[in-house]
Amino acid sequence: MDNDAFVPDEHGDEPPSNVSSNRAFAEVIETRYARRDVLRGGLAAAVTGLFAAALPGKAALHAAAGSALLGFKPVPTGRGDAIVVPAGYRAQSLMPWGEPVTGDYPAFAPDNTGIQQGMQAGMHHDGMHFFPIEGTSPFAGSSTDGLLVMNHEYVEPRLLHAAVTKGRSIDRNTAPAEEDGRDPDQVLKEINAHGVSVARIARQADGAWKVVRDPRNRRITGLTRIEIAGPVRGSDLVKTKYSPQGTHSRGTLNNCAHGVTPWNTYLTAEENWAGYFRNGDAAEGKPALPREHRRYGVPTKQSRYRWELARGGADEFARFDATTKATTAAEDYRNEPNTFGWIVEIDPFDPQSTPVKRTSLGRFAHEGVVFGPVAEGKPVVCYSGDDARFEYIYKFVSAAPYQRATASGRLLDEGVLYVARFDDDGSGKWLALVFGENGLTPENGFASQADVLVNTRTAADLVGATKMDRPEWGAVDPGTGEVYFTLTNNTRRIEAQTDPANPRALNAFGHIIRWREDNDDHAATAFEWELFVLAGNPQQSRDLAGAALTSDSIFACPDGLWFDPDGRLWIQTDIGENEMNKGSMETFGNNQMLAADPRTGEIRRFLTGPVGQEITGVVTTPDRRTMFINVQHPGATTTADEYAAGKLRSHWPDGGDALPRSATVVITPDDGGVIGT
Ligand code: FEO
Ligand code: CA
Ligand code: CA
Repeated sequence: MDNDAFVPDEHGDEPPSNVSSNRAFAEVIETRYARRDVLRGGLAAAVTGLFAAALPGKAALHAAAGSALLGFKPVPTGRGDAIVVPAGYRAQSLMPWGEPVTGDYPAFAPDNTGIQQGMQAGMHHDGMHFFPIEGTSPFAGSSTDGLLVMNHEYVEPRLLHAAVTKGRSIDRNTAPAEEDGRDPDQVLKEINAHGVSVARIARQADGAWKVVRDPRNRRITGLTRIEIAGPVRGSDLVKTKYSPQGTHSRGTLNNCAHGVTPWNTYLTAEENWAGYFRNGDAAEGKPALPREHRRYGVPTKQSRYRWELARGGADEFARFDATTKATTAAEDYRNEPNTFGWIVEIDPFDPQSTPVKRTSLGRFAHEGVVFGPVAEGKPVVCYSGDDARFEYIYKFVSAAPYQRATASGRLLDEGVLYVARFDDDGSGKWLALVFGENGLTPENGFASQADVLVNTRTAADLVGATKMDRPEWGAVDPGTGEVYFTLTNNTRRIEAQTDPANPRALNAFGHIIRWREDNDDHAATAFEWELFVLAGNPQQSRDLAGAALTSDSIFACPDGLWFDPDGRLWIQTDIGENEMNKGSMETFGNNQMLAADPRTGEIRRFLTGPVGQEITGVVTTPDRRTMFINVQHPGATTTADEYAAGKLRSHWPDGGDALPRSATVVITPDDGGVIGT
């Protein structure tokens, strides 16, 4: 299946590209999850049966209302252009798109140049972490001073170029173009609005937080030089004109969620990168796209933002056209898309450091990455989801043991990448993606471990992984070690493709799954899983206790997920902008954040956001008295005609006539207590 052009679907995501025939459990008729009831209709009966069977003994939880973990009064669903938090809390915006963070610290203005954007916070804030300023531990140290490290997932060109698009009927996805291509400075501005920001922030005497000038402040963008490490380094599959030896890549893109390593570095995940490229080989009569492009949905005609059409033909822009142009791969950019789709490590405390693509963790639409607990002498384990419909959940287990004194990113360069199979009986298996094992052999088209990793999705197809409903963030319970993943939605799954782990056809509302590794060993190759919650309205939802969600807890499309150190599970939602506040999504209002008690299953709404946005990214200071969350793409629901008429649906956070800007929100309790209690 080739894709003509990147056409974001109703969720703004790339179209599904898993056309493999590995089973979606369609053939399973009888399971302990009362599947016959599912097939006979009656969702309420079916999901009740599902939970009753999956969670024996959990009925007792019905009586467990009033979780000790959740001490705040829930807020109602929201429709206004504001942040709403519970009584006793306040919220303040920080570091919006365009905030000066480094270099000459240029002030934000709609006509900022591409170079200026490279010294300012990028657009579309997503995953982030607060690193206490001491730089010794990611979770201990100052709670008033630190480095805020943040992803900028994508851009809304009409806002980025508001000075030239004002008054024009222009869609949120459309980049302005002229007859003879794209303005190179606009392209530069778009690339520089992507990537990662490192900015020192500190609490001031009046309690407000501010960005502080610091030599560690930094922007990493779609142009930053990045090293390739792990088995793919030097492979023919990543040799380009930029790096004929296949050791480096230029930039990181579509950075969605993140990870935090036990050795105090930041990981950024490259998610919907495929649409940033095109490969015109097929159109020119050459062989169809190679699987490392096709299986990821690289378009054949036009890329998402058409950077390859920048006037002047500079290499840093022309490389987004992966069409074969020269005799060898080291002379053109046919392999450029193969240098994306990775987890990238950044040391925020060393501004001179070169970020590193850690290829052992696989190549796919990485949503984020989350670590299991570390123990001296034990392997390091981390989990990552591939956010596309019918894609998979992976984990990496390092070959070398963790030693606190010497731990570094090199631990991520050698080890085993596994993909998850969720079996019908509530057990699960981790299937190794190792060259020479599980059929990943030359007879089946794999030439090396580098080949397996560049083609992670194809390898996972072959070993028979379970196709999931868009795996988004993962989180690990600090008390039990249980691993949770959000499965945001999948409206393309039909009844015959349902399975116990993805039990709903036309799954518009999404669910959360959790599992426990055998013997609580994160390096284990087997696990036991269950569903934590089926999201939705009261008629179509079920919590852990088998009860319906209520007006205090209804939500849809779970995306962001994070455990605070007390074991509170924070859930953030991303109903797509084409659906929010319409039809069956109307009841949920604007995107929101909730907190859950993982023992009782109780869920309570903590925050609602402004118009047209998603809530994503969450972390607290070590003392848990300040929380940071991100608001991404406020006002994205503004139609092309409304934009032309100057009627923006959101002006958050500045208000008045201001352009809407993604921004961080700082949440503090009035009484100085711990967030959530
Ligand atoms: Fe970038 Fe899957 O959210
Ligand atoms: Ca997300
Ligand atoms: Ca999202």
